[in-house]
Amino acid sequence: MKADHHPLEPRREELEHWLAVLSKFALDEVDALASGPAVGTVGRAGLDIADAVSQPIGEQPLTGGVEAVTDLLRQASSATFIPPSPGYFAYVPGTGLFASALADLVSGALNRFTGISTAAPALCRLEADVIDWLARECGYGETSGGVLLSGSSLANLSAVITAREEHFAADGDYRRAVTYASGQAHHCVEKAIRMAGLPPANVRRVAIDSEYRLDPEDLAAQVRADRAAGLQPFLVVASAGTTNTGALDPLPAIADVCEAESLWFHVDGAYGGAFVLCDEGRRLLAGMERADSIALDPHKGLFLPFGTGCLLVRDAEKLRNAHSAGAHYLRDLDALDRSREAPSPAMYGPELSRSYRGLRLWLPLMLHGAAAFREALAEKLRLAWRFHAGLLRLIESGVPLECVAPPHLSTIPFRLVRGASEALADWNARNAALIERINAQKRVYLSSTSLPVADGEAVTLRVCVLGARTHADHVDQSLADLATAVG
Ligand SMILES: Cc1ncc(COP(=O)(O)O)c(C=O)c1O
Repeated sequence: MKADHHPLEPRREELEHWLAVLSKFALDEVDALASGPAVGTVGRAGLDIADAVSQPIGEQPLTGGVEAVTDLLRQASSATFIPPSPGYFAYVPGTGLFASALADLVSGALNRFTGISTAAPALCRLEADVIDWLARECGYGETSGGVLLSGSSLANLSAVITAREEHFAADGDYRRAVTYASGQAHHCVEKAIRMAGLPPANVRRVAIDSEYRLDPEDLAAQVRADRAAGLQPFLVVASAGTTNTGALDPLPAIADVCEAESLWFHVDGAYGGAFVLCDEGRRLLAGMERADSIALDPHKGLFLPFGTGCLLVRDAEKLRNAHSAGAHYLRDLDALDRSREAPSPAMYGPELSRSYRGLRLWLPLMLHGAAAFREALAEKLRLAWRFHAGLLRLIESGVPLECVAPPHLSTIPFRLVRGASEALADWNARNAALIERINAQKRVYLSSTSLPVADGEAVTLRVCVLGARTHADHVDQSLADLATAVG
């Protein structure tokens, strides 16, 4: 090896070659989505692929160079669910806009430090611009602020901590703190309560209505009862689209309770919050602007790659109070003129060094324009109703299915009708077999959940329409495959 050879600094021609090979691979994968399966090789065969690609970490580069590396990646990515597929209706689909992937490439290559805005004021300003834009779209005013995090698990955690600091900062005694959410809230809410050092036993399960929405009257009654018992109600978490059924909690009525009882009102809009960008969604989400904080996931509703969540807080100072901290070794940054700075992400969230997430949002917004996002979201709402209408047509034609709830946003829960004296286990087995038959065709991919019924939990299928590449023909395909699978 020559004395001036530094293996971590390849020559430009080599980098260009890597880039060409890897970007061709990425583009081929994206191109294949339109005609490829909605799910890859998973289960036991997927584990075989995992064994085949697993390599010892060698002291020298992999033999075969970037081509061999890409081949391993191609195999590994064949053994997956495919959330960006147009036929993927499972869980919450994730599109992974290519413009955002380019943002990752650029920000990784630039690798500027964007934790403290003094170190990159203009890059931080671009990030602040997209956060401000999202806040205005959600109906928040000038005093609001926010932070981009990895997803809504962290956004909900930071919201819980902000609410906790607001209510209990003085003595740090959280033993009597009570949180309220419906049993349909995402499990990360309870996880956040635990991680925030709040008592999990004091999480109240508020009753739900027949469409799985939180019941505000039960909420008010439980808050009154807890206060009477000497406890300290402080936080209500409502869902703007539950993961299970897409249920949209009645935000205005919940806001009324929170106002009357001086409770922090947090909206988990991880899945549904971004619908605020289109006219119909804004109408549906009325009341969200009254929340103290809103979590929403650009990696869901704004079609970005996984790893982009957002927390917005009506009063940015409260978010800052809960997250800001200083360090001696940051004194050079503190000493610089801060008067015209964008907010420092590190002061509004748990991370210091972080990926430059702002570019993941900013670049697609600059390249596509906001209108493209609004139109795509409006389309997803229409597609959900298209699926719903198709489902009702199947039911009218005698197919033994039931629609469990109409779409509040873009998710539709449904299942086979239970037989007159059918045991719960048998009914559940029939629904589990149904989803297997639908998914085995690989044109569409659905997931199931379980929902409370009188004698337990009923396996329920669900279609969640949120892929940017999903259009009417894919919804029609899902209905056709459902009809075939029911038989
Ligand atoms: C309603 C809801 N809240 C929170 C989360 C957790 O978000 P993340 O996976 O981005 O951490 C999800 C994820 O699907 C969700 O649907």
